Formats: sequence, structure tokens, C-alpha cells
Amino acid sequence: MTDTRLARPGDIVAIASDHAGVELKTALKGELSALGFVPLDLGTNSSDSVDYPDFGHALAQAILDKKAVAGVAICGTGIGISIAVNRHAGIRAALAYDDATAKLAREHNDANVLAMGARIVNADQAKTMLKTFFATPFAGDRHARRVAKLG
Ligand code: RB5
Repeated sequence: MTDTRLARPGDIVAIASDHAGVELKTALKGELSALGFVPLDLGTNSSDSVDYPDFGHALAQAILDKKAVAGVAICGTGIGISIAVNRHAGIRAALAYDDATAKLAREHNDANVLAMGARIVNADQAKTMLKTFFATPFAGDRHARRVAKLG
């Protein structure tokens, strides 16, 4: 049977945020390591104001360049950075806001980036969502046909 998990222990997972997400990024980097992944931190690394598209595009490019197998994108709401990441063909960023959406993003959409809003979810919720996202395989079947139509 095909292994449709997004990443396996030892795989590199890119993580990026703007200034609004920098604290949550630090917490989630630790969680990625605890899950056995190797985080690739693409910044930002301070609370100085930056533009989320710069970090979203860098995250998508790291995956397209195969420097990472998957990504985690954070801004204040998760909206801006998920829009930026999704402007790249082959990248499917899911803006999840609870455990159920983190799970369905993998099962139905084969999302390869988990986007979250640091002003929307707290660190504990975000860690649970991260764990669920990476533990959930893609369900394939009718969903594969739909995902293929995304381009
Ligand atoms: C920054 O203040 C904020 O606009 C950004 O983090 C994000 O929420 C945009 O979608």
C-alpha cells in the first residue's frame, strides 16, 4: 500500500512567518523537531515589521527546489501568507483553524503547507494541529482526481 504521509522522520520541513507569527514559529519549530522532522527556518526572526509575501514566496520556493518536503506558514491571520504560498503551482497551502481542518487538509486536499494565524490560534492549538497535519495521510481515490485538477 502506498505511503501517503507528507513527511517522514528525518525529512526537512520549511517554516516561515512574518513578525506577527515569529513567536508561534519558534514554538512550532520545537514541535517539528519533537516529531522527528528537521526544521528549515526561513525567517523572519524578530518582531520588526516585515512583509508576509516575502516569506510566503520563499517557503514555496524551498519546497519547489526540493530543499524541504513540506512547509508551515504563519502570519497574524494566516490569510496573507497562505495567499502568497498558494500562488505557486504545485503548492497547496491550507489555512487551518482547528484540528478538524488540519486533518481534512491532508485527507482531502493533500495539502503540502499548513498555514496558521498566530492571532487566531494559541500555541497549544497550533501544536495539536501540526501533529495532526503530519500524522494524516492523503485519502486518494476521488480526492486525487480533484487535487489533480488544481494544477
Ligand atoms: C501584519 O500586521 C498582518 O497583516 C499579517 O500578519 C497577516 O495577518 C496578513 O494576512
